[in-house]
Amino acid sequence: MTQNANELMEKLVALAKRRGFIFPSSEIYGGINGFWDYGPLGVELKRNIKEAWWQDIVRKRDDMVGLDSSIIMNPKIWEASGHVVNFNDPLVDCKACRARFRADKVFLVEAKEGENVLLAVGVEADDEESAKQAAIEGANSKTRRRIEDKADRLAWDMVRVDKLAEGRQALCPKCGGALTDARKFNMMFKTFVGAMEDSSSVAYLRPETAQGIFANYKNVLDTSRIKVPFGIAQVGKSFRNEINPRNFTFRSREFEQMEIEFFCHPNEADKWYEYWRDERYKWYVGLGLTSAKLRLRCHEKEELAHYARACADVEYAFPFGTSELEGIANRTDFDLSQHQKYSGKDLSYYDDETKERFIPYVIEPSGGVDRAVLAFLCEAYREDTAPDENGNPQPRTVMKFHPRLAPTKVAVFPLVKKDGMPEAATKIHNECKAAGLASFYDEKSAVGRRYRRQDEAGTPYCVTVDGQTLTDGTVTVRNRDTLAQERISADKVAAYVHERVGF
Ligand code: GAP
Repeated sequence: MTQNANELMEKLVALAKRRGFIFPSSEIYGGINGFWDYGPLGVELKRNIKEAWWQDIVRKRDDMVGLDSSIIMNPKIWEASGHVVNFNDPLVDCKACRARFRADKVFLVEAKEGENVLLAVGVEADDEESAKQAAIEGANSKTRRRIEDKADRLAWDMVRVDKLAEGRQALCPKCGGALTDARKFNMMFKTFVGAMEDSSSVAYLRPETAQGIFANYKNVLDTSRIKVPFGIAQVGKSFRNEINPRNFTFRSREFEQMEIEFFCHPNEADKWYEYWRDERYKWYVGLGLTSAKLRLRCHEKEELAHYARACADVEYAFPFGTSELEGIANRTDFDLSQHQKYSGKDLSYYDDETKERFIPYVIEPSGGVDRAVLAFLCEAYREDTAPDENGNPQPRTVMKFHPRLAPTKVAVFPLVKKDGMPEAATKIHNECKAAGLASFYDEKSAVGRRYRRQDEAGTPYCVTVDGQTLTDGTVTVRNRDTLAQERISADKVAAYVHERVGF
């Protein structure tokens, strides 16, 4: 991460904690790595994202239905899906300090001038370029000066430690000690079902919600009047024992997914893949990820899993690097065929009209709720100025969330705590709540400070009751983004905000 990116990330994490978006889990006991809690503002933001997804994906469409399957399922599901054998990350340990790393995220970075090695370090990074950057930033000032002086003559070599040629020693990013060879580590959390704790009672916390959908595909077909092409959508918790959770909530051990399995005729799979790929990208843009930081990256043939025909990632340029928010894949008939084989149940589909029987192909758009929250937080974060009570510009931090996602839609203030203003403001606040709006009432401190608190929370509208309200029944509505203030009738506030928050 560059210094600016690092600073931005630190500010975001601090704001998330200070304003009650995201807290480290179990903090009073020193925390637990890879687990996070969402505070009062965070839970609203997260719910709004899931709600927007459910509305747009399930309720607004005729070809989609929802599901809520259990987290612990028959362990045979994970044999059929391939997770028991293949859901591994390569793991390396430091022989000196015992730190543990994902081998595909550790690089040996060397800078050479001819045969002379100027720098040789192990760093944790997502790609070669960030590895080089991290190595330079981690070097002491003397080495950094030498690197700058000899910049044109240096040859850089960044190799992932699980791909090092024989004889080259991988180095620990923490202490510089030697690393072990990579070995496989299965990321599923294991538990036991029932009173016996032996191999017969082993079960797993699901590492994805998708398999619950495949396991229920036949139930859904048999009980709803739905026909291929159709999709099943599910939002829920998933668990992965990540070796190195990092980058705030980006890689957690407990997280939520929003997944769609869309079943279609094999001949139509390419068309539906393109449809969902574009649709999912547009969904994020529509909710405010409008900057050039969002991109759609189609995978090269070599990157594809053996069963996949096509795959694309919706990626976001987070301060710590560009990474996946959601993957959209054409998974062919792999999953249903596997479950048919392992369960012995017929999972083919009979088309009444064409009299054809086939195993449907599946298009899978699979997104992470927590990663979406993080991207929306990063995109919303701005520092600018807003005038104080005397019209003088003051610096402010403002979260410019899309109104549909904003945790609080409207804040209502009495200008002062007397002359009937609190009563008038409380009435408006109650009317907003009755209209289903997340409303916040605040009568403490100067009104400028109250505005700034709401700017940090990302509240799109602030309503102030003042002396004029008591004579002509109007209030000011201040717009978070334009800072424009307009006077409207107090009894129209709920309708005014409702109309503008987009649902
Ligand atoms: N069913 C396919 C599947 O699970 P995936 O790429 O492993 O695919 C899908 O996960 C999405 O879940 C990712 O794009 C990401 O948004 C989210 N996700 C995966 N692992 C995560 C983790 N450790 N922490 C937070 N989100 C994660």
